[in-house]
Amino acid sequence: MPGTEYFGKEEKKEVNDVMETGCLFRFNHDELRQGMWKAKEMEAEIRKFTGAKYAHAVSSGSTAVSAALAAAGIGHGDEVIVPPFTYIATIEAVLFAGGLPVFAEIDETLCLSAEGIKNAITPKTKAVLLVHMCGAAADMDAIMEVVNENNLTLVEDAGQALGAFYKGKSVGLFGKSGAFSFDFFKITTAGEGGVFITDDEQTYKYADSFSDHGHDHVGDNRGMEQHPVLGFNYRISELHAAVGLVQMRRLKMVINNSLRNKDIIKNILSTIEGLSFRYMPDPEGDSGTFLNFFLKNTESAQKVMDQFAKDGIGGNNYWFTNMYHFLNQWDHIKELRSAAPLAIHHFGAPQDYKNLKLPKSQEVIGKLISLGIRASWSEEEAREMGEKMKQSILKALA
Ligand SMILES: Cc1ncc(COP(=O)(O)O)c(C=O)c1O
Repeated sequence: MPGTEYFGKEEKKEVNDVMETGCLFRFNHDELRQGMWKAKEMEAEIRKFTGAKYAHAVSSGSTAVSAALAAAGIGHGDEVIVPPFTYIATIEAVLFAGGLPVFAEIDETLCLSAEGIKNAITPKTKAVLLVHMCGAAADMDAIMEVVNENNLTLVEDAGQALGAFYKGKSVGLFGKSGAFSFDFFKITTAGEGGVFITDDEQTYKYADSFSDHGHDHVGDNRGMEQHPVLGFNYRISELHAAVGLVQMRRLKMVINNSLRNKDIIKNILSTIEGLSFRYMPDPEGDSGTFLNFFLKNTESAQKVMDQFAKDGIGGNNYWFTNMYHFLNQWDHIKELRSAAPLAIHHFGAPQDYKNLKLPKSQEVIGKLISLGIRASWSEEEAREMGEKMKQSILKALA
């Protein structure tokens, strides 16, 4: 969790600035706030880092995905292609937008594959909600070809991939809109928070209004603002934005340290026969948050995880069984259990969710282990971690 590793006095200073003025609200109140605009400053840092023309900070990564879908015009009854490997928020965002998730295959990039998307397209497909998993970009050239050929809208859930680029372009900028998370577990944290980005002015205006009850944010009299569209309250507070702002300023350093430590461990593990690594279409654009490696099959991966537990080695995730990131654990979605009826209950699910056949995704996630890289490890600590893991893996596979 690199975001929390460096949490410290800079965050305290920015939060105290807000406490001094007492203006915790991100809009208006010009006199009270004495020139403090933390959410706006955080957005400026995001624009600078990603190169996005527009950025808008909101209350979470989940609400950023919702805003990204709404601003891209995805809603009631639209089929949206999604991956079976993601955080559950991706699927929830589609369902609560009134959309109908269609699960497609991922591959060794850990993201939707171009082929998987192509095979999932139906006459009703409106959009692809692409998730850049575990800190690196999907295979964008191939995916853009399928998206453009089929006239689909691309929205990017980059909740786990702030700091990742593909051929020099930030994730989140390939489609109509993109979303980042600043929750407690991310490369940058605001405690809770998220950011929406786009290069398109109208899409930005929709997201800006959508996330604040439809306000157009023109002028300095909130009570007299126009409401071009319907919206809801997805606002970030100035306190959270103050933390997010500092974390953005630190991001380059965090990425550099993570990449260095990841490289050290990867070199050590690469000598193990039968172990391979996640395929990255553009390794130069990696943000370094995870070292993702494959064993030969599910059985070997399970054995390695058991051995890690026996040897007291933490920090490794086995999403196939343990974590809430893979379709196998999503019974409530498969059964469409919700507190109130959703559009999908009216339209009907576009797939038989209880009997989905996604053999490639099952194979990939079954053999995958993801080590969370700590940016604050010294080179020596990273080497120690790599060596311990290597010995443990060799024992498990012996
Ligand atoms: C891919 C992805 N999308 C969306 C989210 C949701 O972000 P948040 O927890 O900030 O709502 C997450 C959080 O883990 C995520 O990993």
